[in-house]
Amino acid sequence: MANICVIGTGYVGLVTGTCFSDMGNQVICLDIDKNRIEQLRNGKMPIYEPGLKQIVEQNVEAKRLSFTTSYKEALKNVEFAFIAVGTPSSDNGEADLQYVQMAADSIAKNLDHPIIIVNKSTVPVGTGDWVAEIILDQKNRQTPKFTVVSNPEFLREGSAVNDFMNPDRVVLGSMDQEAAKKVADLYEALRAPIMITDLRTAEIIKYASNAFLATRISFINEMANICESLGADVREVARGMGMDKRIGPSFLDAGLGWGGSCFPKDVKALTHMATTRGAHPQLLQAVMDINQNQRHRAVKKLEKALGTLKGRNIGVLGLSFKPNTDDIRDAPALDIIRMLLKAGASVQAFDPQAMQASKTEISDLVLCQNPYEVAEGADAILLVTEWNEFKSLNFERIKENMRGNIILDGRNIWDPQDMRDKGFQYFGVGIPQPEN
Ligand SMILES: NC(=O)c1ccc[n+]([C@@H]2O[C@H](COP(=O)([O-])OP(=O)(O)OC[C@H]3O[C@@H](n4cnc5c(N)ncnc54)[C@H](O)[C@@H]3O)[C@@H](O)[C@H]2O)c1
Repeated sequence: MANICVIGTGYVGLVTGTCFSDMGNQVICLDIDKNRIEQLRNGKMPIYEPGLKQIVEQNVEAKRLSFTTSYKEALKNVEFAFIAVGTPSSDNGEADLQYVQMAADSIAKNLDHPIIIVNKSTVPVGTGDWVAEIILDQKNRQTPKFTVVSNPEFLREGSAVNDFMNPDRVVLGSMDQEAAKKVADLYEALRAPIMITDLRTAEIIKYASNAFLATRISFINEMANICESLGADVREVARGMGMDKRIGPSFLDAGLGWGGSCFPKDVKALTHMATTRGAHPQLLQAVMDINQNQRHRAVKKLEKALGTLKGRNIGVLGLSFKPNTDDIRDAPALDIIRMLLKAGASVQAFDPQAMQASKTEISDLVLCQNPYEVAEGADAILLVTEWNEFKSLNFERIKENMRGNIILDGRNIWDPQDMRDKGFQYFGVGIPQPEN
């Protein structure tokens, strides 16, 4: 069993630290956010992630998991330091590496014994080498021996613990095969395929994977728009495509497109990496354009159905960028709500986990206690995030509460015929639309 420190206690860091401790390792999680560490020490979760709280509690109780804001304390006696800090987008789309730089600097200043630094943050190709340079570059200090291993993370928010514990593969990249094998040993109990490659290749595997998944979604959304114009049903098209083993069914749900803390910034960062090296990433550009367009199309659809958005009252179901998370980073709902407000509509919304964070972003947003309150006085309802609890609502009650009868189901979760039979003017994405 190993001594591990994990730097950053966000969706990736906290899950990584907790899961490694659950596998029997001694783990200390570090964050520069004092509030976050205080919360964790008091048994409060700074993020919503199903199942996480319980495993954190169990491992804290077993004294395998602890939290600190001190690099000195975190690095004491550890064999592995995982970096899991944020890498958001800069204005030009490039990955902003300031947090990675800060973490590398702090490791360098506090390191007093040999260590393997494992980078879990999604970082541009070449960052592993750059981190090594930062650590070597400490003036007036004899740097202890260290190696950098890239270990991109593929977990999904909403099922992060399960994804971490049951990965499709573990990717490790390093020029030092022995160090990579030591990191591989940490994952052995998970019985997943482990792929060891060079540092740069591991770094780009993460970007390529996210870009490919984003491409599948934009592809099916483009198909959805074509289906709409031709009177076909994209859900059946996706089913028909997905049964082909070469294609497979996942990531073929037409809707309002992707958002969140990863796909948008990673596709942008990959595009930036390519462009600055003279390549022309036309496909990636189209993938982003199609995604942004889905949000505009939703607003246009509502405007067409309502005649105008000015003075209309729109109820929105779902604010987080996808179900089972409280994360609203680049959430389609927020973008769409801003467009609706700009066009003169008022918006009332409900989300099981992301209400306060959304209100902080958009002060004009009216928060409701449940979907039925969202329906009160609404001219139209727009479903943006497909939380399970929205799948079977009491639509008689919804209809009674509404002023109008328009439903735009942005994730195709309800049955169109059933909804029309219940008296709604129902619109989906990529399915035959009612005339209006
Ligand atoms: N969120 C996901 O689903 C996901 C999945 C795979 C990979 N990733 C990648 O993992 C990385 C982390 O993502 P996240 O969503 O967990 O981020 P996050 O924003 O939720 O958390 C990052 C944490 O790092 C802390 N931090 C920043 N600078 C620090 C420093 N110098 N020292 C210590 N702590 C510091 C922040 O306070 C914050 O708590 C990103 O590169 C992301 O692209 C994220």
